[in-house]
Amino acid sequence: MGLGIENRARTLAPFWAEHLNRTRTAQARWAQRASGEWLTVLGAGRLLDFNRLALLPRFAKLRLVDADPVCQALWKGVPKLYEAVCLDITGCLDQWMRTLRGTGKPWQQTLQIIRNQRAPVEVAYSQQGDALLSLNILSQLQIVWQEAVEDYLERRFGKKLVERNEAEWLEALRPGGQALVVQHFAAVERSKAAYVLLITDLEYLEYQGVVFQQEHWAPPPVEWTAAGGWKAEVDLVWQRSPALEGVELTEETFARWLPSYRLVWQESWLWHIAPQGTENTPYGTVHRVGAFALEAVLP
Ligand SMILES: C[S@@+](CC[C@H](N)C(=O)[O-])C[C@H]1O[C@@H](n2cnc3c(N)ncnc32)[C@H](O)[C@@H]1O
Repeated sequence: MGLGIENRARTLAPFWAEHLNRTRTAQARWAQRASGEWLTVLGAGRLLDFNRLALLPRFAKLRLVDADPVCQALWKGVPKLYEAVCLDITGCLDQWMRTLRGTGKPWQQTLQIIRNQRAPVEVAYSQQGDALLSLNILSQLQIVWQEAVEDYLERRFGKKLVERNEAEWLEALRPGGQALVVQHFAAVERSKAAYVLLITDLEYLEYQGVVFQQEHWAPPPVEWTAAGGWKAEVDLVWQRSPALEGVELTEETFARWLPSYRLVWQESWLWHIAPQGTENTPYGTVHRVGAFALEAVLP
């Protein structure tokens, strides 16, 4: 995943610039209030979207967390780095895959095993600190799970069968996907961080009908309207899907899953992550990304 991000960030730099700027600007806005001893960054990755200029002066100690071991070398020399943590923050993906690989059951029973996976709240990585930045990782948790399952199913049952039954196995992934989101919220609650900034994909949109060149920036063929809906160029064929399984990030959702926090502000923007014509797919992809600043409510 990390290598894919690095490659795309380089080859599609003109298209990625706005997303990276918006992500960093959201952190600068957050840094106007967030400060303290420890800042924890979940999904630090290659730090492409991390605003170190705005955040480092506000904290004494930095803790960077990512499952990708390559990152450790890239983090060397980052000022104030007191802890570099390399692990799967869900604490359960490895166990889920081991369960799946160990069963060797036929198709329907295998799907039932997938459906039964629920991310236990207590195993999610959580460290106490003054501020927590969840940096474009929440929606990725489900993607990692989905890709691992797809790979397993293809090896065991063959690519054709998996392709033919895509809707069925994707449906089986839903309970686990939702459990991963809820588990992430529980980890945020346990962090007891006074300041939290959650940046995550909210929706994915795939379109066909406009071709781009990777060197020449042009606006995406879709917009997110002020009224809160998609508006597309005429003749564009498109479909959207939620990035977070069964969870919409509304004030009610935060009140339910993060009862110790209140939502202070939110922003959202579009990320033209893979314009049609720039990659080996017959469609282009746009993500809608959200930034949510939360503060702990004093007891
Ligand atoms: C979309 S990237 C975020 C971009 C990242 N901040 C950067 O600049 O490279 C998601 C990051 O989350 C990490 N990640 C995905 N699933 C993870 C998990 N279960 N535990 C820990 N890290 C994970 C990936 O390794 C990747 O670096």
